[in-house]
Amino acid sequence: MVQNDGLRSKLIEYVQNVHALEGNVVLMLDSIVLTTRDEELREMFRVHREESRRQQERLRERLEALGGLGLASLRKNVSAIASAQAKGAFDVFRSDKPVQNARDAFVTEHLEIASYEILERMAERAGDEETARVAREHRAEEQAMAQRIAENWDRFVDLALEEGRSRA
Ligand SMILES: [Fe+2]
Repeated sequence: MVQNDGLRSKLIEYVQNVHALEGNVVLMLDSIVLTTRDEELREMFRVHREESRRQQERLRERLEALGGLGLASLRKNVSAIASAQAKGAFDVFRSDKPVQNARDAFVTEHLEIASYEILERMAERAGDEETARVAREHRAEEQAMAQRIAENWDRFVDLALEEGRSRA
């Protein structure tokens, strides 16, 4: 499949990176599911958490196919870095959980969309059509999730205001 060794190890690195990101997303969605009281919104996040788990599994399969599974331990902790990046800017709004969750999730979906755009191209250059296909499919799922969040901005703000009132 992938002949060029340099390109192949680069591709492995990129798949590992996105795999770690998905792991992080699952943890973030765990926390969002726990802190979302609105049942319908909670279900939306729960469904995407399962979707993210399937994505992570598919990426693990690509790593295996590329012979990159054993290299995982050599990588620095990408997951911790991605987590810090995703959270860093938003500590100011910690008190308003519903909007904070929505914003973090929206930003993370876009981080994923960008990562899959890059992964798709890297896989194509390496001649790995299967990984490119997985990247495209996952990107479409992230875009759909970002869209679902975007359709609910008013609702998230309503919930933040309601929770603020019930606490006051
Ligand atoms: Fe994802």
